[in-house]
Amino acid sequence: MSFSSSDPDILTRTDGSLLFVQIHRPVKKNALTPGMYTALGEALRYADSDDSINVIVIRGTDDCFTSGNDVNSFVSGADEPGERPSLGFMKAISQAQKPVVAAVSGPAIGIGTTMLLHCDLVYASEQSHFQLPFSRLGVCPELGSSLLLPYFLGHQRAAELLLLGDRFSAETARAYGLINNVLPPEETLQFATDKARELASLPNHALQVSKRLMKRNLENVLPDTINLELKEFGKLLRTPEAQTIIEAFLNRKK
Ligand code: COA
Repeated sequence: MSFSSSDPDILTRTDGSLLFVQIHRPVKKNALTPGMYTALGEALRYADSDDSINVIVIRGTDDCFTSGNDVNSFVSGADEPGERPSLGFMKAISQAQKPVVAAVSGPAIGIGTTMLLHCDLVYASEQSHFQLPFSRLGVCPELGSSLLLPYFLGHQRAAELLLLGDRFSAETARAYGLINNVLPPEETLQFATDKARELASLPNHALQVSKRLMKRNLENVLPDTINLELKEFGKLLRTPEAQTIIEAFLNRKK
């Protein structure tokens, strides 16, 4: 079996038993469109279904992981009917059976940070930074972050990140236990790849069972949390307050 991405802004390649998935929309700082979410979800599901893939590596471009959801799709009326592609991606990454390793460079904003909470190993360059600007945009946390961040960090530190929504550095992310290591920019991808190869060389089935056991406590509550967050997010997005903030972002250079 081989995999080809359904979206030109998501690049995939296999190297031995690793599947590399690259978010690649540099002109828009790798902002995620519905098509990109679909392709990301498909890649993750493919990896789980193909016995020749042992580990997934997610990366962005050299100077940006992702600026998060494409803000254009936050504009009222931009929603398409049916299940949102972002939900398909959220399910795929939160339920991925095989280990997922992330290599982060530059900004990782919004879902760029929350997707890391579902990865198994995360390596970030010294120049990376993180932000959960949901309340600043007039919306609320997503991808299970309202559950996972307080669970990982305690309520107060999670509140600092999710309610104040300030940008934080790779060093802070490491100190909080959100990432494994901070590396010089030119070494980050190689380091993440080496760790992915190390994982891939271990007994595959044992890794998957271990991962499942590690996530067992949350697997009953996570899907509900993700759905509830999306519902609240959708309601907040439609408020005049959120729409004004989003329009201000989109018009800021005019
Ligand atoms: N959605 C849509 N477009 C985005 C985007 C996003 N999330 N993030 C960046 N872009 C676009 C910009 O509008 C700009 O497009 P233009 O050149 O056509 O004007 C281009 O990408 C470059 O962005 P710019 O802001 O000029 O780059 P920067 O290096 O100064 O800043 C960021 C990079 C990521 C810090 C900044 O773009 C940002 O904060 N983006 C918004 C993040 C956000 O709020 N995401 C939603 C989270 S829920």
